[in-house]
Formats: sequence, structure tokens, C-alpha cells
Amino acid sequence: MRDNGIRLLVAGGAGFIGSNFIRYILDARRDWQVVNVDKLTYAGNLANLEDVESGERYRFFRADICDAEAVGEIVAEGEPEAIVNFAAETHVDRSIDDPALFLRTNILGTQVLLDAARRHGVARFLQISTDEVYGSLGSTGRFSEESPLRPNSPYAASKTAADLLTRAYFKTYGLPVLITRCSNNYGPYQFPEKIIPFFVTLLKKNEPVPVYGDGMNVRDWIHVDDHSRAVEAVLLRGRPGEVYNVGGGNERTNIEITKLLLAAMGKPESLLRFVPDRPGHDRRYAIDDTKIRKDLDIVPRVPFEEGIRETVRWYLENEPWWRAVQSGEYLSFYDRWYLQKGRS
Ligand code: NAD
Ligand code: TYD
Repeated sequence: MRDNGIRLLVAGGAGFIGSNFIRYILDARRDWQVVNVDKLTYAGNLANLEDVESGERYRFFRADICDAEAVGEIVAEGEPEAIVNFAAETHVDRSIDDPALFLRTNILGTQVLLDAARRHGVARFLQISTDEVYGSLGSTGRFSEESPLRPNSPYAASKTAADLLTRAYFKTYGLPVLITRCSNNYGPYQFPEKIIPFFVTLLKKNEPVPVYGDGMNVRDWIHVDDHSRAVEAVLLRGRPGEVYNVGGGNERTNIEITKLLLAAMGKPESLLRFVPDRPGHDRRYAIDDTKIRKDLDIVPRVPFEEGIRETVRWYLENEPWWRAVQSGEYLSFYDRWYLQKGRS
């Protein structure tokens, strides 16, 4: 795809990674225009984009990606050359609590966007998938793009369906699609239900942090800035029809993460609390990112300890941001999942 003067539609741009990507791309590509389409669920927050919202190259539409009419109108009016789909229900525990919305948004919403892209004839459609489509690893090995898809949670299953549907639009209709499968992201503006910001906000309140099971589950952590750079590279230089893994090369157990956060915040280890495990809890994720390294020259840059220190500092300096979102939907889920199920 050419790289100048692109009109880009971002779905789910008010969430954690989507807002990081929009901020990054508006800065990196000074002649691009971005239309952000987001339903503003509990996880969508326009405060994440306050610093770019007044810019002339950015526009926001509140819409549900499952609403074919609304999406059709936005695409017809904006005439995007490329679409990146970040929009999704994203929290594994919520998908266990109530899967229905995950299937609707993650599968049907992706289909609506794919159809709009096809009708409009976009040059690129990038589906943001996840490493969770591969399921769980034992103590060795890493996921490559050829690994079998064996999702274990309703979240992962819904993302796998969307991922495969995206592939089907390439095979069936020749839509120029790309798929990225990234590992666990961390960084500023992440909704405080995911382990890192959740634990930082609990520790700030001197509350214990609930570590599931034996705490030896492993995730491969990547800073969200590194993810955004990878998304840009795949969008511009990836080969249509291809899947690209994105990883941090940075495997940590949940206990290691917890101890790092306790140390960064100067809190005692007595605040670490083992609680009943998440059902179907994937043991280990690890990414083989040889393909994106070799083909697109993309490597993660942010050193983990430094990224964590800055992230912790961001949450401490932006307490009004997370206090404001720890209300309504957050509190009712917290009550159902942690308090009523004895996980606190
Ligand atoms: P998030 O929950 O912070 O943001 C999701 C955004 O999608 C929110 O702004 C929300 O309002 C919007 N949205 C939800 N349903 C919608 C709908 N029906 N219509 C329009 N907008 C809707 O999630 P995130 O962590 O930023 O993840 C973004 C994408 O990256 C997701 O597709 C996720 O599966 C994928 N991903 C995330 C991670 C991670 O570690 N967070 C890792 C790999 C892949
Ligand atoms: P999470 O941030 O929910 O991401 P994902 O499940 O998509 O990898 O969880 C990351 C790891 O942290 C995962 O192994 C589950 C664990 N975890 C806890 O131990 N306690 C918690 O309260 C949460 C939210 C997660």
C-alpha cells in the first residue's frame, strides 16, 4: 500500500491499544487522516484521546460495529483506504462470566466491518487478533503462525472465529486482509481489570492482589508502543492474506509480575494473595516472532523493567483517570467475579 495521505478507519480506537495506535499514527504519519469508530463500552474512553481529539486529521463516530447501517454510512462517507479493527470485548474473565456479548461483538462485528470493507473496496483490512487463538503451551516451545488454533476461553474462541472469518474473506472474495496475533500488552490507559493496571490500582489503595491458582502461569509481555509500531508495519508492508505474530520476547510468571509491581510501589509481599484459579486458565503463552522480524524488520524496543516503571508511574500520576473508570460496570463485575466467588 502507498504510505502517503492515507484515510484510515480505526474500529475500537477509544480502548487501550486502539488509542495508543491512533496517537502513534497521527504523529508518525503527518498526512494521514483517522476516523475512529467506537461504541464506547465500559472499556472505551474518549479521555484516552484527549490530546488528539481537536486535531483536524482526526474524527470520532460513536457506533456499534455490529450495526451494519451505521458502519456502512461511516465507510461510505469517510471512504477509507484502510481499516484496522481493534474493536472487541477483551477481558477473558468477563467472557467466562457471560460469553454472549463476546460472540456478538467479536464475530458478528468483524463480519460487518469485513462486508463494509468489501463493498467499499479498501486496499487493506487489518484484523487485530491475539496469541490466545493458539491455546496453551507446556513449559517448552513457542507459537508460530503455523501452530494449530486451539482457543480455550470464550474470549479466545470468539477471536479465533473472527481471525478465521478474516482469512475466509481473503480466500473467498480476495479482500486484501492482514492478521496480527500479539501477546499480552501493557502500558498507560489499559483498563484496570487486566492484571498489571488492576494490581497497581489495588496496591495504591493498600489492598491485597488476587493471584489466580499457583501464580506460575506465563505470559509474554510487550509494551503497547511496540505493538503499535508492529501494526503500522504490517498495515503498510505486510503481504495480504498473511498472519504475523507479534511478541515481546519477554516471558514472566504472574508471581514475577506481582513481585515486580510490589517492589516498584514499595509494598510488602504480604499483599500477595493466592485465590481460586480462573477456569480453563491457559498455562503459558510464548511467541515466535521470526516472521515479522525477518520480513518486516520489526523488533520490540521497550525494555520490560523500564516499561513497567514508567507504566506504574503513569497510573500513580493519573489516579483521576482510573478512579473515574472504576465505577458502574467495573464495580458490578468486581463484585460478581472476585467478591462473590471468593477470589479476594
Ligand atoms: P479494550 O477493551 O481496552 O478496548 C476495546 C475497545 O473496543 C473499546 O474502546 C470499546 O469501546 C470498543 N468496542 C467494544 N465493543 C464494540 C462494538 N460493538 N462496537 C464498537 N466498538 C466496540 O481492548 P484492548 O486491550 O485495547 O484490545 C484491542 C484489540 O487488541 C482487541 O481486539 C484485542 O482482542 C486485541 N489484543 C489485545 C491484547 C492485550 O493484551 N490487551 C493482546 C493481543 C490482542
Ligand atoms: P489478564 O490481564 O486478564 O490477561 P490474559 O488473561 O488475556 O492473559 O491476565 C494475565 C494473567 O494474570 C493471567 O494468567 C491471569 C492472571 N490474573 C490473575 O492472576 N489475577 C487477576 O486478578 C487477573 C485479572 C489476572
